[in-house]
Amino acid sequence: MIREIVQVGDPVLRKKCERVSRFDSALCTLLDDMKETLEAAEGAGLAAPQVGVPIRAVVVNVDEGYFEFINPVFVWQKGEQRGPEGCLSVRGKAGDVVRPAKVKVIFQDRKGNKFSLVARDFFARAICHELDHLDGILYIDKATNVRDED
Ligand code: CO
Repeated sequence: MIREIVQVGDPVLRKKCERVSRFDSALCTLLDDMKETLEAAEGAGLAAPQVGVPIRAVVVNVDEGYFEFINPVFVWQKGEQRGPEGCLSVRGKAGDVVRPAKVKVIFQDRKGNKFSLVARDFFARAICHELDHLDGILYIDKATNVRDED
């Protein structure tokens, strides 16, 4: 089911999200809905607070594939890249953000299994953007040259 994407100004986007402790059917439904919502919006990533659920879960859809990250934590971040970003919760805007060039994250899947992953370039950028959402941070807090984009 496609869920409504919360827009900037809604306090849920500013919450520090709770860790996921129950890997149950409600989590699966949420993740399925987030995937569908992300696909419909043609975005690169979506965090649970963006559909009004302040828990530590994000989905990312990039050239490398579709990924679900539950309770993600950075192991390290290396280098630097500057590039444009937008956000499904900040419609019609874009801005330039400096992010690490390469990151390693540990995370769980929807069943609670633990994984680690190294990402670079745009994939790393997408992960950084989505993980910021889990701490109530939006890219516009960090961006320069925020501009209208259609
Ligand atoms: Co966003």
